[in-house]
Amino acid sequence: MKFLITGCVGFIGFSIAHKLLSKKNNLVIGVDVISDYYSKSLKNKRLVVLRKNKNFTFLKKDLSKKKNVDEVFSKYKFDKIIHLAAQPGVRRSIKYPQEYYDSNISSFFNILECSRRYKSKQIFFASSSSVYGDNKTFPLKETFLKNPKNFYALSKCINEDMAKYYCENFKMKIIGLRFFTVYGPYGRPDMLIWKMCENIHNNKTLKINNFGKHERDFTYIDDAVEMVEKLLLKKNLNKFQVFNICSNNPTKLSKILKIFSKLRKNKKNKFIVYQEFQSGDVLKTHGSNTKILNVIKKYKRTKIEDGILKTFNWFKNHY
Ligand SMILES: NC(=O)c1ccc[n+]([C@@H]2O[C@H](COP(=O)([O-])OP(=O)(O)OC[C@H]3O[C@@H](n4cnc5c(N)ncnc54)[C@H](O)[C@@H]3O)[C@@H](O)[C@H]2O)c1
Repeated sequence: MKFLITGCVGFIGFSIAHKLLSKKNNLVIGVDVISDYYSKSLKNKRLVVLRKNKNFTFLKKDLSKKKNVDEVFSKYKFDKIIHLAAQPGVRRSIKYPQEYYDSNISSFFNILECSRRYKSKQIFFASSSSVYGDNKTFPLKETFLKNPKNFYALSKCINEDMAKYYCENFKMKIIGLRFFTVYGPYGRPDMLIWKMCENIHNNKTLKINNFGKHERDFTYIDDAVEMVEKLLLKKNLNKFQVFNICSNNPTKLSKILKIFSKLRKNKKNKFIVYQEFQSGDVLKTHGSNTKILNVIKKYKRTKIEDGILKTFNWFKNHY
């Protein structure tokens, strides 16, 4: 099968590309602008790993430019498109909405338009748990109303509405993936689990928002990849729908801190300081996995203690 993976040197894009390339009949065309939102050297490390596979082709392109997307679609024909390229980060989106408009809304519009014109068979795209906003009813189900609290979340809500429109009006097959706080090896330096690894490894102090009272449905990368891979193989996903990609098991930040504190060798330094709630944040995420389980039947659910240990061990070996 031939896949287009956008955002292929990002955390999730890299992990999915790597998994798909482990099957010998798969070809992956990866596109990424290699943005400088976080370490380009980490993105280049991921690219080095992917380039070891002869079935991988990399195209460095900014997808917010229509011409670039046209070039990709006029050259290749894809069985499945996995659109993960985006500008992430909820708090940053309040200050710099233009970046989110370009990378999240315009880029997806270009992908949809080209997919329509070139008659692509199926698109999977990254949405986010942030579309639920600060809900009070848990677990969060795909049927709940969307309630974005920042421009990033809004950009994902708009993506979902665009996808629904294209499905309904042009009979396209599009599936939205609402990822919930994905973490693991080759993860994202702007996210908590990476920051904790970095701080413990380098004996630094980390600021924890909202006095550690947040709760997140942390999802280990291998579990997220397995869920996406199983959805990719389903033949009857014809109408537009979204799926939570979650562990259905929220963890308090205070528990994460306890797990990390056991991994600390040097216990003399203060490794966290608490600070107030930051605007744009949501207090709790907890996704329901009932809908995805109905379709894929089962997936491995890595315990948070095991996932953190694997991530920390990877971090020590690479930094
Ligand atoms: N990691 C998570 O926990 C999480 C949670 C919810 C949603 N998501 C979504 O999943 C997707 C993948 O997330 P990730 O964690 O791998 O993020 P990431 O930042 O690691 O990867 C995104 C990639 O997209 C690329 N990109 C950005 N703008 C681009 C553009 N205009 N043209 C081409 N490439 C561009 C970046 O260079 C980056 O490599 C994103 O859409 C993100 O919003 C992730």
